[in-house]
Amino acid sequence: MKVLVIGGGGREHAIVWSLRRSPQVTEVVCAPGNGGIAEIARCVPVDVNDLAAMANLAATEKPGLTVIGPEVPLALGIVDELERLGLRVFGPTKAAARLESSKAFAKSFMQRNGIPTAAYAVCSTLDQVRRELARFTTPVVVKADGLAAGKGVVICDTHAEAEQAAAEMFSGALLGKTEAEVVLEEFLTGEELSFFALCDGTHAVEIASAQDHKRVGEGDTGPNTGGMGAYSTDGIATPAMRQWLLRNVAQKVVDGMKAEGTPFKGILFCGLMMTSRGPMVLEFNTRWGDPETEAILLRMETDLCDLFNASIDGTAGQLAVKMRPGASACVIAASGGYPGKYASGRVIHGLTPNQSREDMVVFHAGTAAKDGQLVTAGGRVLAVSAMAPDLRSALDKAYAELGKISFEGMQFRRDIGHRALRG
Ligand code: AMP
Ligand code: GLY
Repeated sequence: MKVLVIGGGGREHAIVWSLRRSPQVTEVVCAPGNGGIAEIARCVPVDVNDLAAMANLAATEKPGLTVIGPEVPLALGIVDELERLGLRVFGPTKAAARLESSKAFAKSFMQRNGIPTAAYAVCSTLDQVRRELARFTTPVVVKADGLAAGKGVVICDTHAEAEQAAAEMFSGALLGKTEAEVVLEEFLTGEELSFFALCDGTHAVEIASAQDHKRVGEGDTGPNTGGMGAYSTDGIATPAMRQWLLRNVAQKVVDGMKAEGTPFKGILFCGLMMTSRGPMVLEFNTRWGDPETEAILLRMETDLCDLFNASIDGTAGQLAVKMRPGASACVIAASGGYPGKYASGRVIHGLTPNQSREDMVVFHAGTAAKDGQLVTAGGRVLAVSAMAPDLRSALDKAYAELGKISFEGMQFRRDIGHRALRG
């Protein structure tokens, strides 16, 4: 079967790498892909913000299966569009993707369906923000309603700061686009956990859990990024907790979405804060996480095609997702200056071809081939991922490989997994 993968980051490289190991897959096309993906799949340029261009490409390629990586095409309705063309596609419809594309929708959905989440208020004017703020202690969290690539959440120490953040979201000063609504939210403390479930409209089955490292600096300091590294282990959550999350979060989402006439199919990524009052949902994503996927797919034993097919065909209830025991970790090598301004086109040295290895893969997040050399082409450049019987060994393996790689301005965190190691 020919598979088309939409996207071009580390997550998509991991998906393509995993698909290439499936005996069911004869050809993988990735759009737009990147320098690393081009070594194992045919890459075709496409703008993932352009629905018509993606639909045209799929209509031309006629894949047996299309997999959508990033959130933007899902929010635009790529799944609805490809289904109209009679194609098999993995991911949620535009209506179901609102769990990620509208924070106001996600919050009210959780409230209607008894899913634990922080207290909140949705506001559409600054007057309303001022009035509602009186109900919140500080710090208070202000969130843009729409997709914001990780930049739409501001934690504010005072009400005045919160008012200003909301004003800048309404005016477009913060995100470059105006927001019709902002969400005020109670500030929660605890450890964060990313819980991934496969959904087929009726059933939710557990895939795995992981922990991301969102801040750019060691010790969780500095500005938020798309994610500087992740790990996934057997023991990251107890079996009882995983059962609880499956039943009280993921399955409730699937039941609620079905009851509301917008069944949810695809990956449900539950971003959780493990508070002293119990787990609370910070956000839903309706796709694989990046860089969590680079860690999780290294450990996954189940054929990724079986996962995608079970979601599309409504048979996820019969699928047991198997993960290899032990641990996996992913460390991001980023461009100097990221998440702010950074340079592109820096030559990357020290990469060894390793695509056939089972336990260590350097996934490419933002690279391009130029004049026969690989160069940097993004903020996050490489996702160095390794698997081992325990987390310490997985991290040692990833850092050893990273030590061979260099490009001008390269930065990475040396403390990925620090919470688990401190234990
Ligand atoms: P989100 O995009 O909603 O996941 O938010 C991005 C990050 O902001 C999360 O990973 C948390 O670190 C932080 N965050 C979001 N909501 C809250 C909250 N209610 N309390 C504390 N931190 C939060
Ligand atoms: N790692 C967070 C995300 O994919 O949104």
